[in-house]
Amino acid sequence: MTESLRVGVIGTGYLGTTHAAGMTEMGHQVVGLDVDAEKVAQLSAGQVPFFEPGLPEMLARGLSSGRLRFTTSFADVAASADIHFVCVGTPQQIGNNSADMRFVDAATRSLAAELTTPCLVVGKSTVPAGTATRLAELVRETAPAGAAADLAWNPEFLREGHALRDTIHPDRLVFGVTNEGSERRLRDVYSTVIDGGCPVVVTDLATAELVKVAANSFLATKISFINAMAEICEVTGADVATLAEALGHDDRIGPRFLHAGLGFGGGCLPKDIRAFMARAEELGVVQAVSFLREVDAINLRRRARMIDLAVEELGGSVEGKRIGVWGAAFKPDSDDVRDSPALDVASALQSRGANVGVYDPKAMDNAAKKYPQLDYCHSAVDAARDADLILHLTEWAEFRMLDPATLAGITRAKRILDGRGALNPAFWRSAGWTYRALGRP
Ligand SMILES: NC(=O)c1ccc[n+]([C@@H]2O[C@H](COP(=O)([O-])OP(=O)(O)OC[C@H]3O[C@@H](n4cnc5c(N)ncnc54)[C@H](O)[C@@H]3O)[C@@H](O)[C@H]2O)c1
Repeated sequence: MTESLRVGVIGTGYLGTTHAAGMTEMGHQVVGLDVDAEKVAQLSAGQVPFFEPGLPEMLARGLSSGRLRFTTSFADVAASADIHFVCVGTPQQIGNNSADMRFVDAATRSLAAELTTPCLVVGKSTVPAGTATRLAELVRETAPAGAAADLAWNPEFLREGHALRDTIHPDRLVFGVTNEGSERRLRDVYSTVIDGGCPVVVTDLATAELVKVAANSFLATKISFINAMAEICEVTGADVATLAEALGHDDRIGPRFLHAGLGFGGGCLPKDIRAFMARAEELGVVQAVSFLREVDAINLRRRARMIDLAVEELGGSVEGKRIGVWGAAFKPDSDDVRDSPALDVASALQSRGANVGVYDPKAMDNAAKKYPQLDYCHSAVDAARDADLILHLTEWAEFRMLDPATLAGITRAKRILDGRGALNPAFWRSAGWTYRALGRP
């Protein structure tokens, strides 16, 4: 039987809400804090302000157990928990590549100022090298006498769309600690996960915070590698999908993250690799990660290539043409539109004079807030109505299932560009469509 611990979660966005609900599921008494009062009210009422499969149910279980609640008061969370996870955002700064650390710093300072008893503060946000040591100092300076808090780092690897599974059954736990007491507390709080066989890597603060940016850099590199191969395929006539399949059978390479397409976006990979480069420059080791500049450039070139293909397919200009776009979220099973490749392409085509209709199963509201100039449609078929061209830009299962026969007489032309290489070319071509995908003949 797990000992029930008192847990605080600071910042209840994608990561914090999932972590708070997950900690409750693990048997703990949890208080989630956010400075956004509306978000706190929504969560307290059992509403998840974003789409994550299974999370509303997990939140409801937590609230009805009486072991999960939300607050905007740092004094409340400080008095109600002995271990605090800092889960606030670290977005890219406007105008440069560095991470904006104002939220992490403010949250840590506000929490430390309200501490009354010794506790453990655990960083979970993705941060630049050196942050953990700096925050340990900040906590030491800010916490009142008698409230000596230790600081630990426990990077988070959850993937939106799979966040519940990744929280309850992570593939590893990383604990960056400065003493055995902190390690023991982290082992206690994650005891159900550890008892389930999850490997634990115990290390220092500097290594723990680096694991996350290194992991994201590797994943981004793998995606950009296959997208670079797609660029080669486009001039040699080779097929990047078959190439990826053949490469993936080599178990030193593996098939995952080798799907050529429109590339990565979202609230993590792009800003994390840029922040890594910016921090490496400050540390005088920019050469060590200069390859990430190319990784980023390859990724952005895929978006430009998609726009060029659309222009080419429409005879040299998109002016006045109707383009139906399937997908707005940065990836399927999420409503997150942060740095969404789909919306980037859609708005670029709109600004070149196309009339763009967008449909996404879950991200319509977020997309409309960010890109109000686009036309939003009720369904994939609705987005295809009178279209001169369809772009498939986020690989939701719904789009893969769509039978081209459903679109008979709906579109103005039978042209589709598959930005995710996820549709079946033979299927579409045999229905009389011009089908093209990035990196494929
Ligand atoms: N989203 C993911 O899939 C994911 C996965 C792993 C790691 N991360 C990392 O986790 C961190 C959070 O990401 P997210 O996607 O949850 O961001 P988010 O923007 O969804 O959530 C951040 C939350 O922090 C709150 N906040 C801001 N300032 C605060 C303060 N001073 N005190 C308390 N709350 C405050 C915001 O109101 C918001 O609700 C980032 O560093 C991110 O890189 C995210």
